[in-house]
Amino acid sequence: MSDEIDQILQQIGELPPLPQAAQKALALIRDPKSSMGQVARVLSMDQVMTSLVLRWVNSAYYGLPNPVSTVQQAIMYLGQNTVQSLILAASVANMLYRPLPGYDLARGDLWRHAIGVANGARLILSNIDPKSAEEAYHAGLLCDIGKLALEVLLRNTDTEDPQFQDRHFSELEASLCGYDHAYLGGEMARRWNLPTPLVTAISFHHKPSQAGESIRLASAVHVADAAMMIFGIGIGRDGLRYPCDPVAFEMLGIREAQLEDLFDRMSNVVHAAEELFGMIQA
Ligand SMILES: [Fe+2]
Repeated sequence: MSDEIDQILQQIGELPPLPQAAQKALALIRDPKSSMGQVARVLSMDQVMTSLVLRWVNSAYYGLPNPVSTVQQAIMYLGQNTVQSLILAASVANMLYRPLPGYDLARGDLWRHAIGVANGARLILSNIDPKSAEEAYHAGLLCDIGKLALEVLLRNTDTEDPQFQDRHFSELEASLCGYDHAYLGGEMARRWNLPTPLVTAISFHHKPSQAGESIRLASAVHVADAAMMIFGIGIGRDGLRYPCDPVAFEMLGIREAQLEDLFDRMSNVVHAAEELFGMIQA
């Protein structure tokens, strides 16, 4: 099956390499002994990232009364995990900012959606399972990377065709290449050597009840994703056919009626996503 997926990824689109800075950030994330000093060292080797972290901590989003001028201060204020996640987001920003015409997603739509889901998933787990909150951010950020590969096939597919009408969008995707974007995204993450719980959460973010030991992580991404879809951020062609998995809501003790409140708490960062992308490009 691995060979078959390699072939699919080769046929339908090149697997984008994981940028170097993201590899370094993820190596630190994977290392439970990584220290604030190591993060500062990785940053100091990369002027672009240093400048991004400083501009982000001094942005209107945080509204600090006094400017922060050193990387060490920025890490102290934001926290090591947030800085690592910021590096990861910056590293994949160009990949996620692309337009995906096959999904009716304009330039920037997938990026805003990813930032929202990442923050929402982190917010959800920060109360229930704080140790996994940052991992939820990573899973949320990368949950839809499979769309980068699948969208080429969707460009020439009439998704309104009666044969697809009563099917979930993931079934439609699977009918095109055998797998939906969630599973393909998980396989891309596996080829980037990302940790297994992260791969599983990406693969099952639409069916968290099948995520085994990663059920909580996948559920947090699913619920945050649902909130973004319901409030119309990055819905594209598939959003209107997004089936909510009740198991995810039960697992996290969240009712669907609470999604509005969750979205309210996420909306600040969704609005700041554009500002963040501008800083990454500057
Ligand atoms: Fe998805």
